[in-house]
Amino acid sequence: MSLSEWLRASKRTVVLTGAGMSTESGLPDFRSAKTGLWQHKNPERLASTHALQYHRDDFIAFYQYRIRTLRECEPHTGHHILARWEERGLIDSVITQNVDGFHQQAGSRHVIELHGSLRTVRCARCDQSYESDAYLTDTFYCSCGGFLRPSVVLFGEALPADAVEQAWRAAQQAELFIVLGSSLQVSPANQLPLIAKRNGAKLIIVNMEPTELDEWADLVIQNRKIGDVLAEADQEM
Ligand code: APR
Repeated sequence: MSLSEWLRASKRTVVLTGAGMSTESGLPDFRSAKTGLWQHKNPERLASTHALQYHRDDFIAFYQYRIRTLRECEPHTGHHILARWEERGLIDSVITQNVDGFHQQAGSRHVIELHGSLRTVRCARCDQSYESDAYLTDTFYCSCGGFLRPSVVLFGEALPADAVEQAWRAAQQAELFIVLGSSLQVSPANQLPLIAKRNGAKLIIVNMEPTELDEWADLVIQNRKIGDVLAEADQEM
C-alpha cells in the first residue's frame, strides 16, 4: 500500500517530524551526511547545559546563528499539506522534535513540541519569556538580572512533562504513525514509533537516509524529499 492509501484507511494518524522536515525551508538538520550541523560542530559544546554553564560565549553565538537563520526561513509546502490534512481530519496531531514553530505557522493546530521552541527565550531565574529576537539585539538578561536562554530542551535537560505525556498517549492510540525527516537517534523521541507499533499501529518512515528503526516499518520511503512525497500523496488524496 502507498502512503495515501494507508492515510485514507486510518482513523487516527499521528505524525512525528524531525529536522529533515525543515531542510527544504532552508534550515540545516543535525546529522545529514554532508550538511548536518553536528558534522562540523560539537553539540555538547553548544546545545547543552554544560555549554550554557561553561561555554557561554559559544552557546550565545550558536543560538544567535540559529535564531537569525530561523527568522530568514519559513514553512514549505510540506508543512502546509500537513496543516490541510489536519483540517480535513486525515491526521490527528503532529509530534515534532523541531523548535522552529513552522507547523503552527503553516496552520497545524495540534502540535506537540517535544524539544521546546526557538521562538522565545526565557529567564533562567524568574522564567519570564521574551521573543527570541532579543538575542539578535544582544539582549541576554532579563529585567530581573537573570540570564535569558532559548526555550529549547538542551542536551542534559528533561523534556517538558506535558509534551511527553501527550506524545506518548498519541503514539499509543495511533492507527498509523508516520515519521518525517528524523534519523531517530535521539531518545526518548525515537521510542515513539515503537510504542505506536507495539500498540498495533502501521509505521511509515519517510527519510532521505536509513534510520535506526527502518526494520520495524511497514513502509520505508528513502532517497526522496519529504516535500515531494507529501505533494504526491496529497495529489492522490
Ligand atoms: N527529505 C527527507 N529526509 C530528509 C530531508 C528531506 N528534505 N532533509 C533531511 N532529511 C533526513 C536526513 O537524512 C536525516 O536522517 O532527515 C534526518 C534528520 O535527522 P537529524 O538531523 O538527526 O534530526 P533529528 O532526527 O530531528 O534530530 C533529533 O537531535 O540534535 C538534536 O534536538 C535536536 O531535535 C533534534 C534531535
